[in-house]
Amino acid sequence: MTVNEIDLGVTCDMHVHVREGAMCELVTPTIREGGVSVAYIMPNLQPPVTTLDRVIKYKETLQKLSPKTTFLMSFYLSKQLTPELINEAAKLGAVHGVKCYPAGVTTNSAAGVDPNDFTGFYPIFKAMEANNLILNLHGEKPSVSNDSGVDGKEDIHVLNAESKFLPALAKLHQDFPNLKIVLEHCTTAEAIQTIENINKDIKDPSEIRVAATITAHHLHLIIDDWAGNPINFCKPVAKLPSDRRALVNAAVSGKPYFFFGSDSAPHPLENKSKHMGISAGVFSQQYAIDYVAEVFDEHNALDKLKDFVSTFGLNFYDIKEKDLVSNEKVKLIRKQHVVPESITDGKGITMAPFMAGQTLNWSTEWN
Ligand code: DOR
Ligand code: ZN
Repeated sequence: MTVNEIDLGVTCDMHVHVREGAMCELVTPTIREGGVSVAYIMPNLQPPVTTLDRVIKYKETLQKLSPKTTFLMSFYLSKQLTPELINEAAKLGAVHGVKCYPAGVTTNSAAGVDPNDFTGFYPIFKAMEANNLILNLHGEKPSVSNDSGVDGKEDIHVLNAESKFLPALAKLHQDFPNLKIVLEHCTTAEAIQTIENINKDIKDPSEIRVAATITAHHLHLIIDDWAGNPINFCKPVAKLPSDRRALVNAAVSGKPYFFFGSDSAPHPLENKSKHMGISAGVFSQQYAIDYVAEVFDEHNALDKLKDFVSTFGLNFYDIKEKDLVSNEKVKLIRKQHVVPESITDGKGITMAPFMAGQTLNWSTEWN
C-alpha cells in the first residue's frame, strides 16, 4: 500500500542558525515553512551570546518573527560564562544548553575554546550537570600540520578532525557522567560507533546522557559533492560514502540517541563565491523535513521518521507540551516540488538553498 500522508506530530530541529538583522528576518520564518515546530538556536553571533540579557532579547526578536515556533536558546561556551550565570539562566529557563566551539574550526568560532584542555570549564560543566543543561559539542579539532615531524604530533585536517575529537568527548562523559552531551552534526562512521558504544547498556531512553544530531545534508552529501561546489561546503565537511551509509543507518535505526539537527547555516551567496575563501554552511531550513524524508523514503524507513524528527529530540531535551508555544502538528505529504534556484528577501540578500533546482517528493503541512 502506498503511504501518502504521515503524522509527524511536534517536530524538532535541534541545531539551527538564524543569525541577526536582515538575514534573521529572512530565515527565521523558514523554520516553520520547513515543517519544524521546535528549534534549538545556536549562539555563534558576533559577538557570541554569553549574557542573560542578550539571550532573552534574541529570543524575543525570534518570537516576533515566527510567533508559532518554539525557540530553545543556548549560550556560547566562553570564559565569560560563570557557574552563577548558568544557575540563574537555568532557573529562569532562559537557555537549554551551552554550545562549545573549538576556536577556529568554523564560522564565528574565533571566540571559542581550546579542545585540548577543557578543565578550565569544569566549574561550568558542573553547574550545567546540576541544572540539567545540555552541552552541545562542535566535535572537531582545529587543523594543524606537523611538517617539522615532531614526535607524537599528528596532522589534523578536515577529514580526520572529527575522529581526533572523539577521545575528548569520551573524557568529558567520563568526568561528568550525568551531564547531557550532544555530539553535533556527526559525519563519520567512527563517531556513530562511539555514540553506540557509550549507549550500549542503555535500558531506557531516560538513561541516555550522550546523543548525536545528524543533519539533512550529511545524509545526502559525500566529499565529492563539496569539492568543487562551495554551496555544499560546511563544517564538519561531508566525508566518504561509507561514512554517509553509517549516518543513514543511524538515522533510520530507531535508536533514541540519534536525532535531527539540521545545522542549517545561511550565508549570502557572495560569501559562497569569494576568491579569498568561502563561508562554511549549508542552508536547508526551508525544506528541512522534506530533505530528510527523501532519504528515509529511499531506505523504506518512513515509519521511523517521526522518531528521528520529533520524539527522540524532544525526549532528550525533556520538552513537554507546556513548553510549546503552539500545539499544531506537522503532516508529511507526498507532493513533488522543485527546490528554487535561489531565495531572496528582495532587499539585497540572496542565498542558494540546499539541492537548488532538484525535485523533492515530500512536503509538509500544518494541522
Ligand atoms: O558549516 C557550518 N556553518 N558549521 C558550523 O558549525 C557553523 C555554521 C555557521 O554558523 O555558518
Ligand atoms: Zn552549527
